[in-house]
Amino acid sequence: MDPDRILVFDTTLRDGEQAPGASLPIDAKLAIAVQLSKLGVDIIEAGFPVSSEAQFEATRLIAQKIREPIICGLARCVDIDIDKAAAALEKAARPRIHTFVATSKIHLEKKFRKSEDEVLEMAVKGIKRAKGYFDDIEFSPEDSARTGKEFLFRIIETAITSGATTINIPDTVGYSNPEEFGQLIDEIFIHIPSIKQAVLSVHCHNDLGLAVANTLAAIRRGANQIEVTVNGIGERAGNASLEEIIMSLKTRESFYGKKTNIHTQEIVKTSRLVSHLTGIIVQPNKAIVGANAFAHESGIHQDAMLKDSLTYEIMNPADIGWGETRIVLGRHSGRHGLKKRLEDLGYHLSSEGIDRIYERFLEIADKKKEVFDADLDALVSDENQAIEEAYRLEYFHILSGNQAVPTATISLEIGEQKFQDAAVGDGPVDAAFNAIDKIIGKPVRLIDYSLQALTSGKNAMGEVHVTISTNGQKFTGRGASTDVIEASIRAYIHAHNKLKHSTTQHD
Ligand code: KIV
Ligand code: ZN
Repeated sequence: MDPDRILVFDTTLRDGEQAPGASLPIDAKLAIAVQLSKLGVDIIEAGFPVSSEAQFEATRLIAQKIREPIICGLARCVDIDIDKAAAALEKAARPRIHTFVATSKIHLEKKFRKSEDEVLEMAVKGIKRAKGYFDDIEFSPEDSARTGKEFLFRIIETAITSGATTINIPDTVGYSNPEEFGQLIDEIFIHIPSIKQAVLSVHCHNDLGLAVANTLAAIRRGANQIEVTVNGIGERAGNASLEEIIMSLKTRESFYGKKTNIHTQEIVKTSRLVSHLTGIIVQPNKAIVGANAFAHESGIHQDAMLKDSLTYEIMNPADIGWGETRIVLGRHSGRHGLKKRLEDLGYHLSSEGIDRIYERFLEIADKKKEVFDADLDALVSDENQAIEEAYRLEYFHILSGNQAVPTATISLEIGEQKFQDAAVGDGPVDAAFNAIDKIIGKPVRLIDYSLQALTSGKNAMGEVHVTISTNGQKFTGRGASTDVIEASIRAYIHAHNKLKHSTTQHD
């Protein structure tokens, strides 16, 4: 392998999906996998097949449809996990099983109540079983950063002898720092000569905000695979962000001297797709993909930028895919024009899907004259997130004003029937949610609400994300419209549909 080439292992669909509230339906996972493949990642971790039927199906479908990157399934060092992962990856062009077991003292004592020798045996058995299915096997000693070095080196060496082709070093709880993590990678190279036969990977969590820094430190010490997620989403504070590491390597190429296969112009589109589909909004000041990442507010900066953009910009925004929000279509663009533009944007939808999007496109084109790419992204996200709709909005009517009690009347179609109710609230959105709750009759708590403008101007599409909770479970919903109240209502109904869908599945 070229020693200057860094392999990009994307775990947005596995660790990223473990972010609170990020659960993705299968179609949405496939849409993300298609985009990750266009982005040029080397490995896609598609899921944890044993953990649920939906995870199994998503991994199976992605393995079947995405042919270029390696498709990977996660498994504990447990027979059933490995067999399930192998079954899900059966049709993959390039399958990989990623098997893991915790190795730190605290995990051994508190989680497993097992000795080091017993855990070592689990690892050997797991790797050998996985090896019976495929050649490409990755092994992770979970919580490596807090594992005693002697045991860590012993288990890595044994994993390689047992057949692991990639060794991944996770900082599972984001405990390390760049100096210490870099040194750990150094020591692995020094103490385990056989590591040269394997790919050495790192997987950093962001609990102390150091995931990207730790990953870059590991690259400097010779790690040749990085595990990352789009927008840095993942368990708790998330994982190392793909876009930040990739743009560090590109912008400071002479410093790092490393290359990846990532087509950086696809970064913004990938970030937007993941944000739309997971419902996790990208903070405006987020490096690389935040709305303000290339916004210059100060007059002095603006003046200098006009003279030479390199005065205040170290990257060309076009290299990341910014600035492509072209005006695309208007009221008179036909269904074919829309289909063509969607295909140019990378969306290949069924003919029924196009019909549904076309209907909503006409509604939007009626309200705002110009429809932008970001508007189309929002409509496709709605379509991708569409699940069987137990509740459908028929109409809403709002009465509001600074001297009126906000009142909402909502009509929902439930099956063949229509139900209407009215409620008051602290504001029009609250009133609408109360009316929906009265119709559905299922008490839920609204725990998160956010509104984001997708495009600029008076007629911008507003995108609303909500999270509701009931019985300890959370459900997210999203809705987009030029009318923020309608977007809110759609998001709330979407979350209720997900709740209904999950209860029907468990009935
Ligand atoms: O953070 C972690 O340790 C993981 C492992 C499964 C690699 O996600
Ligand atoms: Zn992780």
